[in-house]
Amino acid sequence: MTQPSSTPMKGILLAGGSGTRLYPMTLAASKQLLPVYDKPMVYYPLSTLMLAGIRDIMIISTPLDLPQFQRLLGDGSQFGVNFEYRVQEKPEGIPQAFLIAEDWLQNAPCALALGDNLIFADHLSTSLQLAAQRTTGATLFAYQVRDPERYGVVSFDKTGRALSIVEKPAMPASNWAVTGLYFYDNRVLDFAKRVRPSARGELEITDLNRFYLEDGSLHVDRLGRGCAWLDAGLPDSLMEAGQFVNTIQARQGMLVGSPAEVAFRMGYITPAQLRTHAQRMGKTELGRVLTLIADSA
Ligand code: TTP
Repeated sequence: MTQPSSTPMKGILLAGGSGTRLYPMTLAASKQLLPVYDKPMVYYPLSTLMLAGIRDIMIISTPLDLPQFQRLLGDGSQFGVNFEYRVQEKPEGIPQAFLIAEDWLQNAPCALALGDNLIFADHLSTSLQLAAQRTTGATLFAYQVRDPERYGVVSFDKTGRALSIVEKPAMPASNWAVTGLYFYDNRVLDFAKRVRPSARGELEITDLNRFYLEDGSLHVDRLGRGCAWLDAGLPDSLMEAGQFVNTIQARQGMLVGSPAEVAFRMGYITPAQLRTHAQRMGKTELGRVLTLIADSA
């Protein structure tokens, strides 16, 4: 049996897939590089992983799109973190990410963020850091939705413990959808190897999560009323995500989903490095706000 690891958690940003629900936008462009208001979509889940305190991050995408991610994000030094890049030849399922990352994982616990999922919540960094520091089990985040049948659905007992998880159920046992942000201990690779393709021919993340549920080590953190979880995989949700970011930024003058700001607040980069980053953004509002943040240090 794999022993709990004291190695810091690593993170995978999964940004492949086919994006068919966004055709024709994704016929010649990666979904996760489309704009969500003023930033590429991938910035948001990347900021979330960084906010969890994760500094070793593997970005996985399609053979065609991966070079664009490398061009956008580089080696990670601009954000004080390390990026590693890998190709997923075909979209054969989310847990495949761990098989692709096998040699890089080196027995570390690992988080996985889907490149088209955006989470905004007050005090999110505390819950994220707690999840990243747990040495055993898995942590998922659940969010109440109107249309649970589109997602993996988790039900709870009276004490709040997860009872079941079912992928896209016709008759959902609850309204709680599992979001695209998962934290796993170092047994994740062993479990991922045991997942078999589903009827639709994909490795399902729900099957991986069920191993933890059966093992009695699944934690599900329910995101409450003041939180937003958006899956930007449809034209409407893509637009809603953009409008949401625009509303918060315009109203509060604060940034949402800026890896540079997170890097600075986490102490990964200095004020001077943040200023250099801000200058690269030219005359944009993003550049102006980042400069203000650097100057206020
Ligand atoms: P989905 O939204 O389920 O699939 P998709 O992105 O291919 O889109 P569509 O349904 O419109 O064809 O995927 C969720 C996220 O996971 C998304 O960011 C893409 C990513 N993904 C991969 O990178 N590889 C995979 O094998 C799968 C299934 C998903």
